Amino acid sequence: MFLEIKGLKKYFKDVKAVDGIDFNVKEGEIIGLLGPNGAGKSTTISMISTLIKPNSGSIYYNGEDIIKKPKAIQQDLGFVPQEVALYPTLSGLENLKFWGKIYGLKGNKLNQKIEEISEIIGITDRLKHKVEKYSGGMKRRLNIGAALLHEPKIIILDEPTVGIDPQSRNHILNSVKEINKKGSTVIYTTHYMEEAETLCNRICIMDRGKMIASGTKDELLDLINANDRIELKVEKINNSLIQEIEKLDFVSNVKTKDNNIVIEWEGKNGNYSKLMNVLAQEKNKLLSMDVKKPDLEYVFLSLTGRALRD
Ligand SMILES: Nc1ncnc2c1ncn2[C@@H]1O[C@H](COP(=O)(O)OP(=O)(O)OP(=O)(O)O)[C@@H](O)[C@H]1O
Ligand SMILES: [Mg+2]
Repeated sequence: MFLEIKGLKKYFKDVKAVDGIDFNVKEGEIIGLLGPNGAGKSTTISMISTLIKPNSGSIYYNGEDIIKKPKAIQQDLGFVPQEVALYPTLSGLENLKFWGKIYGLKGNKLNQKIEEISEIIGITDRLKHKVEKYSGGMKRRLNIGAALLHEPKIIILDEPTVGIDPQSRNHILNSVKEINKKGSTVIYTTHYMEEAETLCNRICIMDRGKMIASGTKDELLDLINANDRIELKVEKINNSLIQEIEKLDFVSNVKTKDNNIVIEWEGKNGNYSKLMNVLAQEKNKLLSMDVKKPDLEYVFLSLTGRALRD
């Protein structure tokens, strides 16, 4: 296994930031750590990056114990922290040169690499400008670029799209995909389930220091046996209507709110007309209908009883 994490724990006094988690990272994948504020995502990746030491547990990288031998992973690692780490009074180019030299790059090799990476993160035409003049999104992109110069085998990004405009956000997501295509394994933390869904091959859901589930999006949806939900807004709600809907064998979990009926159902064509028949029989009128596919938000809600976004 490329990266193997077992029984990992980190306590800060009585705060159980990471409380005994297990997971693996496969070479070449984009793996997402999804969880709300305080779930333990940053603490987990700080241990993988060897920035902090766990209280117990183990992390193996290509079979080597990196808690005992941090060097085994350090040279292969690009780490993009949650906070931007750049020199504001220097230009983008000067910042990249600075980081490149720290990684031991120089001369032509460094210049070539800077050119290539500026393209990926889309800042080529702003390279000569001072970083203090950059937008928040551009700073984030440069911050990512700085971690890519030494062609790391693993890139770890800590919520790189928080608080930036949608255009920069898309740009970052595309850059991450491109970096991955070029051969880097990616560990990506986020509390946006849409990002985890579109970007990641596999997703680990974290909450309060625990790993509560992991798998592909489909595997996670299977785990909670999620049906589609459908929200019907009708002219009026009465008991016999609800009773008739509850009798349908493809319907479960009928709830009502004001003039809305929310049901879980197996969304097949035939079922739709059966539902409409019931409404017609009851002489009720459908005002609107909204079908909701199950998503990771729903997985989180089912497993924890809380919303991913508080
Ligand atoms: N150095 C520290 N000292 C004390 N407590 C800490 C420290 N670092 C993290 N914690 C606590 O550990 C818990 C997990 O924090 P962590 O930063 O790993 O969560 P996170 O999932 O990255 O959250 P966020 O989405 O807010 O970044 C939180 O309760 C946090 O307050
Ligand atoms: Mg964090």
